[in-house]
Amino acid sequence: MSRSVRLVPTRLVPAVTACALALVLTACGGTGGVQGTPGSAGAADPYFPEAGNGGYDVTHYALTLAYTPDTSTPLTGTATITARATQNLSAYDLDLKGMKVKSVTVQGKSACWTRTGQELTVRPPATLPKGRTFRTTVHYSGTPGTITDPDGSEEGWLPTADGALALGEPTGSMAWFPANDHPSDKASYDITVTVPKSLQAVSNGELRSETTTGTGAARTTTYAWHTAQPMATYLATLAIGHYDITRTTTKNGLPVYVAVDPQEAAASRKVLAKLPEIMEWEEYNFGPYPFSSTGAIVDRRGDAGYALETQTRPFFPGAPDTATLVHELAHQWYGDSVTPKTWRDMWLNEGFATYAEWLWSEDHDGDTAQQTFDALYDGTYYDDPSDSEAIWAFPPARPTSAAHISDSPVYERGAMVLHKIRRTVGDARFYDIIQGWAATHRYGNANTADFTAYVEKMAPGKDFSGIWKNWLYGDGKPARP
Ligand code: TRP
Ligand code: ZN
Repeated sequence: MSRSVRLVPTRLVPAVTACALALVLTACGGTGGVQGTPGSAGAADPYFPEAGNGGYDVTHYALTLAYTPDTSTPLTGTATITARATQNLSAYDLDLKGMKVKSVTVQGKSACWTRTGQELTVRPPATLPKGRTFRTTVHYSGTPGTITDPDGSEEGWLPTADGALALGEPTGSMAWFPANDHPSDKASYDITVTVPKSLQAVSNGELRSETTTGTGAARTTTYAWHTAQPMATYLATLAIGHYDITRTTTKNGLPVYVAVDPQEAAASRKVLAKLPEIMEWEEYNFGPYPFSSTGAIVDRRGDAGYALETQTRPFFPGAPDTATLVHELAHQWYGDSVTPKTWRDMWLNEGFATYAEWLWSEDHDGDTAQQTFDALYDGTYYDDPSDSEAIWAFPPARPTSAAHISDSPVYERGAMVLHKIRRTVGDARFYDIIQGWAATHRYGNANTADFTAYVEKMAPGKDFSGIWKNWLYGDGKPARP
């Protein structure tokens, strides 16, 4: 896959001007007060070591963006990031790939900053003491880049026929806003986007306001989106273009906001009509829905190579099928509300969302989960024998590298782990476990060890050691049960 769209001119230009000037004017780097050390340049992820940063914990992102197509600077942004220092902090990094930074302030005062690769290093005027809540404001602009993942898929900023699309898994959000771009640091968001009046801007959470100003061709509309519940950076989205918008509410009063590219409207109508029913079935099986709105974004086939569980508003490239809608909505519980601590724990997302598809089929006159499990085990699930073999390439909890975190051992074999647990504890206890798991870690982060400990606690006297050893962590195909 080509990396030609990657766009990082700023990486080559050491952006020392702001810092050199500030050094002269303000003596950056903190005189007096507490001694601090720089936060680390990564969040110690085993698969994406540069993703995220250390030394602080973001509580809120306020992104104010303006999108002006067909200009040399299509995106202009101001990001105000509220965070709490987790150490005495003399400097810290944000992740930002490409884009041009104009200025950085900390607590309203101009700060020194430099850029190296995806790290935007900020040196506040004075050391931030541990526990202090502080605001960083970054003014930036440019053409956001498309990022090619180690597995060849494309994310970040994806231009579309009638606008653009921002998708973040695993490290794409740094293409369109400066962030602590790692799933371990969740925050609330205000995403405010101004676009030409002829376009619409759809994002996560609830639409607080939609305001049109200006006259003639200069008319613009500002869409203000609010996400109150914690969200990982990779789940933030922005879809700009022409959409048919449908606003409804579910039976229990949850707002539903669905945006569909008009070209996909006819093909999507029937499946999207099932969204309330799927939500109800998932609430019955997984427990209360964790967020304050739901919906979907359907763009054109080919606008992205995959669907994504963007929080409250999953994204689909073209009309989804029912299984994919079930899958992305299941992620709202497993992935979005309970989020992996690192990218190694991906199976906790994909194994659950895949198992949700099996359960839906079982409950709706399709194959039972046992039949799906058996077909995978026996190699009759796929037409291509190499696909059947691929499930056993590595254990779900230990993908071989970043290039493999979305391979079938994470999805299908991850779901097989859940099925093994269900067979060990029985249906009633199994649903207690998956609901309890979502409730216990609601809005938080968890890893595989947290999960196995939770299962053991919920089913005292049952022996899971073989499942963990052979199905979750073990190499190769486990022996027939
Ligand atoms: N999470 C998406 C899904 O299952 C798939 C996906 C999209 C993905 N981009 C990714 C998985 C990047 C891993 C990495 O619906
Ligand atoms: Zn998924």
